[in-house]
Amino acid sequence: MFDKLLDLSIAYSFDQTGYHRHARHFSELNAAKFAGKHFLVTGGSRGIGGAVTKALLAMGAEVTVTARTRQDFEQNFAGQTQVSFQPLDLSDFKAIQTLPLGHYDGLVLNAGGMPSTPTLVDGQFDTIFGAQVVGHYLLLNRLIEEDRLQPGAPVHWVASGGMYLHKLQLDDLGWQSRTYDKVNSYANAKRAQVVLNGLLAQRCKNLVFSCSHPGWVGTDALAEALPGFTNRMGKRLRTAEQGADTILWCLEQGQQLKSGLFWFDRQPRGTRVFFWTKESDADRFALLAMLEAVKARY
Ligand SMILES: NC(=O)c1ccc[n+]([C@@H]2O[C@H](COP(=O)([O-])OP(=O)(O)OC[C@H]3O[C@@H](n4cnc5c(N)ncnc54)[C@H](OP(=O)(O)O)[C@@H]3O)[C@@H](O)[C@H]2O)c1
Repeated sequence: MFDKLLDLSIAYSFDQTGYHRHARHFSELNAAKFAGKHFLVTGGSRGIGGAVTKALLAMGAEVTVTARTRQDFEQNFAGQTQVSFQPLDLSDFKAIQTLPLGHYDGLVLNAGGMPSTPTLVDGQFDTIFGAQVVGHYLLLNRLIEEDRLQPGAPVHWVASGGMYLHKLQLDDLGWQSRTYDKVNSYANAKRAQVVLNGLLAQRCKNLVFSCSHPGWVGTDALAEALPGFTNRMGKRLRTAEQGADTILWCLEQGQQLKSGLFWFDRQPRGTRVFFWTKESDADRFALLAMLEAVKARY
């Protein structure tokens, strides 16, 4: 009962105390489920994705990391074997089509951030939606169409609790007729990822889709996007390793996981708190149609 109240408070659930309380019931990840497997982790050079990469390597997996810049990768993984880097800006849709790719046992769609100024991508998206939703969708589709994911492979979207306050909206995604609001754009992109996770689970039965939010994690992205919040939270922010836990757990569960669910601290969670954030079927299919239209052009 007390646990439920703390969970409802959000502040004592998404923070590090929430992690410790939930982790009382966690068992250690089984390294044998990862050893010898090959994972692709977008934004795996630092932060939460970096912690996913480190844990996968420690459990004997091979990892391919993508990010725009090599510097963080070099700093965090210099001299390590079994890990390689592919430069990729997910808002560069042409580059996604020519990215050298291998074959993978699992995919983590993690890259993200909240840039303060928008750059127009493909004449219609801001960087947040362009990279995190469209770019990831194009990468995933390329992997599927080229048969580069093992049957039954886990595909994990790293979303955010920020989407709870937001209803999917698909107008003016490039912020050309509104004043840019990075928090609003981010929440919309994360809502779109959650919606896509459910839709793709229905469409691609031979992959296992999952989506999670990592809680509030003390990474570069958070400090840059929300410095005031980062300062206020201080040591209550989760570590990158704690933020990575549920992502790794979903990968470990593999085909035991019901495809298309949203997870937080290894528990399936609802995707809606407020009735007004419920999107219609028409919105859902409009999102997919829009993504397919971009795909057809690249
Ligand atoms: N930190 C939190 O509290 C929190 C909470 C909820 C959700 N999340 C989500 O967790 C994920 C990881 O965030 P983080 O906090 O770990 O951030 P981070 O430390 O800033 O790491 C972000 C990673 O994504 C890469 N990246 C960013 N934009 C990219 C782009 N356009 N194309 C390709 N790669 C890109 C970055 O490398 P380059 O800059 O070199 O490209 C870096 O590797 C994000 O999806 C974020 O939205 C974080």
